[in-house]
Amino acid sequence: MQKIIPNTKYLGKNIQWFGEVSSTMDIVKAQAVSGAVEGLVIGADKQTAGRGRFNRKWESPSNTGLYFSFVLRPRLSSKEMFVVTFLSSLAVCEVCRELGVNASIKWPNDVLIEGKKVCGILTQAEFKRMDLDFLVVGVGLNVNTLEKDIPAGGCSLLSVTGKEFDREEVLVKLLDRIEFWYERVKVEGVAPVVNSWKGMCVTLNSHVTIADSNKIIEGLAIDIADDGGLLVKQNNNEIIKIL
Ligand code: BTN
Repeated sequence: MQKIIPNTKYLGKNIQWFGEVSSTMDIVKAQAVSGAVEGLVIGADKQTAGRGRFNRKWESPSNTGLYFSFVLRPRLSSKEMFVVTFLSSLAVCEVCRELGVNASIKWPNDVLIEGKKVCGILTQAEFKRMDLDFLVVGVGLNVNTLEKDIPAGGCSLLSVTGKEFDREEVLVKLLDRIEFWYERVKVEGVAPVVNSWKGMCVTLNSHVTIADSNKIIEGLAIDIADDGGLLVKQNNNEIIKIL
């Protein structure tokens, strides 16, 4: 991508877009450590070592998906930090819906279309002594990714609609929504994001089976805890929080 002109006040005012990188997470982190202000966005047409949660590989084929990371320096307690991941998945879900696809969110941070994952979000926190210094948020959205390049259980905007999307336009919309929700967090706290996020979340009120450390937890997902954890009512009626 060449010339990206965001509508935002600061998120993406500095966008550095590369042809190929190892992982946009590492580039943003290095710049943040050197003092980059919040709002810096690093993106790439291709990642050779894109990674996801639990250090899983994130397939990032050339020129088809959106792979970008950004830095934020929020004044949030460690209990409230989850809201940045939530607002990012909320923004992605909203933009997908605006583009005409019926997306939803799966706790904690996947965006799904027809039960298949179209987007993953990775958030990494850096601390200075006890305080949060910055967050790096990485978004991987399969836009025009061909079915043959999508791992099992995944999809792309193209694979579900049969239509190609302008990646630059999608990026501009995403940055706009992410900034919108981030601004609201600054003024109103986490509640508006959490409420809107819940409205798009398919995990709540459904039966879940989750591998947590070395045990399997099963039950009904009943709510989100103050720190973003999932509250699951097990068959013995005991409520357990999963982080
Ligand atoms: C997940 O679902 O496990 C999170 C996937 C996050 C992928 C994005 S792509 C842009 C950024 N760079 C990376 O290496 N990972 C994130």
